[in-house]
Amino acid sequence: MAMYHSRYFWQGEKIRLRGVRESDWEEWLDDFCDSDAIRLLSWGLELPPSPEMAKAAFAQWADFKDSKSRIMFTIETLDEKPVGGINIHSKDEKNGTFSFGIRINRNHRRKGYGSEALRILLRYGFYELRFQKCNSGCVHINEGSIWLHKSVGFVEEGRQRRTIYTNGQYYDHILFGLTREEFDENEVAYKTEKGCDGWFCGKKAILAKCGKGEFASLPQVEVRKVGNPSI
Ligand SMILES: CC(C)(COP(=O)(O)OP(=O)(O)OC[C@H]1O[C@@H](n2cnc3c(N)ncnc32)[C@H](O)[C@@H]1OP(=O)(O)O)[C@@H](O)C(=O)NCCC(=O)NCCS
Repeated sequence: MAMYHSRYFWQGEKIRLRGVRESDWEEWLDDFCDSDAIRLLSWGLELPPSPEMAKAAFAQWADFKDSKSRIMFTIETLDEKPVGGINIHSKDEKNGTFSFGIRINRNHRRKGYGSEALRILLRYGFYELRFQKCNSGCVHINEGSIWLHKSVGFVEEGRQRRTIYTNGQYYDHILFGLTREEFDENEVAYKTEKGCDGWFCGKKAILAKCGKGEFASLPQVEVRKVGNPSI
């Protein structure tokens, strides 16, 4: 049964996000045997994974059963092939901040999947969960992650020197931050470039398609008070 269509919130041009399924464990395990990727993700080497561990983890995460601390999604192509995972974590309701984790299976990188998935996740965090800032970071040699952050508008906020130790060496930790307003601006640019219908409600602008592909900024709408604890 085809249950998706082009106006589906969780879908981009190339990928969609869906809940984790128990059967996703195999793709995850395959990725976890990529020790170089795991070093970048976990800031070190993990002990050997097993099918049993992978199955148990996916049974726990399946269908958002356990989403209090992490909201876990599988990233799949539009023909439903799993290519990676993304999650929201470190939700801080008092300060209105959150963070995310992402991995794209090595065979599927550099195809635009990661940035599309992250953009959907950020829309959810800012425009549905009413967070005001996303904090993130990565090890300084993670070129893919640095580009990914910058592609959706993250600002480099600092660098913690010699904070990560792996593979016999110390590495720096780069801190990234993205405010709701910075993301609004990035979305305006993105949607203008794509020429797609505006539908989201931003603090600085609401996009509206008017006439021959032109976009207009409509009056500001205050949708959130910074620091509101009732997120
Ligand atoms: C980081 C990661 C998720 C990026 O996913 P991806 O699907 O390859 O990213 P995209 O194809 O959407 O690329 C996003 C942007 O980064 C650029 N980019 C991606 N990987 C790159 C690399 N290795 N070197 C240079 N640029 C890179 C792309 O060209 C693109 O730029 P653009 O928007 O200007 O065209 C993926 O490399 C990955 O899973 N790495 C291992 C796990 C990891 O490091 N996770 C992040 C931890 S913070």
